[in-house]
Amino acid sequence: MGLFDFFTEDIAIDLGTANTLIIHNGKVVVDEPSIVATELKTGKVIAVGNKARQMQGKAHKGIETTRPLKDGVIADFAAAEQMIKEFIKSIPSLKNRFWTPALRMVICIPSGITEVEKRAVRDSAEIAGAKEVHLIHEPMAAAIGMSIEVREPKGNMIIDIGGGTTEIAVLSLGGIVKDKSIKVAGDNFTSDIEYFMRKNHNLVIGERSAEKIKINVGSALKDLRANDIEEPENWDVQGRDQASGKPKAVSISYQEIAGALDASIRQIEDAIMQALAMTPPELAADIYKNGIYLAGGGAMLRGLAARIKNKTDLPVYVGEDPLRAVVRGTDHVLRNIEEYDAVLMK
Ligand SMILES: Nc1ncnc2c1ncn2[C@@H]1O[C@H](COP(=O)(O)OP(=O)(O)OP(=O)(O)O)[C@@H](O)[C@H]1O
Ligand SMILES: [Mg+2]
Repeated sequence: MGLFDFFTEDIAIDLGTANTLIIHNGKVVVDEPSIVATELKTGKVIAVGNKARQMQGKAHKGIETTRPLKDGVIADFAAAEQMIKEFIKSIPSLKNRFWTPALRMVICIPSGITEVEKRAVRDSAEIAGAKEVHLIHEPMAAAIGMSIEVREPKGNMIIDIGGGTTEIAVLSLGGIVKDKSIKVAGDNFTSDIEYFMRKNHNLVIGERSAEKIKINVGSALKDLRANDIEEPENWDVQGRDQASGKPKAVSISYQEIAGALDASIRQIEDAIMQALAMTPPELAADIYKNGIYLAGGGAMLRGLAARIKNKTDLPVYVGEDPLRAVVRGTDHVLRNIEEYDAVLMK
């Protein structure tokens, strides 16, 4: 360990549309929604993460809650910088220091990101205190986080279904051979449910209620039992009646939600089929043997893995902790940075 190392702290960041995760010294120290609350009069950020989320949908006119990332990339630079800064400031082991350590960061970014967007991520990290910034593609990080040996001459297909984007990538020899990214993912499922409740039940609900419905009775399949998956019980949803304006409750079945999500899931299926069709034959043979790996919070939707398996006739595996696969992989790369030089972006 050189003197420089002594003053340098390493952090791995998964800056997601829905959630930001940070690992420092092998521990997840930040796992919070990517949300910022701003006081409109002064433009000051008053809360980030969980605290800002609690204000979502419940704030008065003087406070606005926003998501600085949209479709996997930074949409509001100032808010994103503030958010990263606040999250880094909140890391307990960095707080009680006599000096401000130099930060070395590995940040993962969507594979379809443009040069301008890459620059924006770098700049935000530097403003937040990074002296050295490395970038890694999300599906690569997800694969490493699921302990897939990405540097072998062997094809692997990874699908990361996040909040804003679904990224489908074929990896081999430490690089991305083919990738396809679509802006349909977990957050679309949530808005599909909001729309469905309004349209079919005249019930106006907020984003958080819609997400709860998705987690509790969401399904990618209309018949879970036929696929040996436990069926969730009906779920009571409270909201506002569109016509009368009165608060009311409706009971919802998973079959109804499966119907509401069908079109979005079909778009994901189509993208997977296109990615498979683009895959070079040698690698396709590997994928036939090894199957498809799913990561990202969207992969946790009930029946989704089974539906992709039915569609592709391939084995489909969901990582052990899909919400954290990307940040774990990012951290693994950070700790073995020389070894993984080839997978980092130049
Ligand atoms: N149990 C669950 N069932 C279904 N969806 C879930 C579940 N848990 C979380 N999600 C969804 O996963 C999504 C967030 O996943 P994740 O944290 O991987 O996204 P992200 O990395 O922030 O986004 P992106 O990679 O697109 O920038 C949200 O849409 C959330 O509602
Ligand atoms: Mg992600």
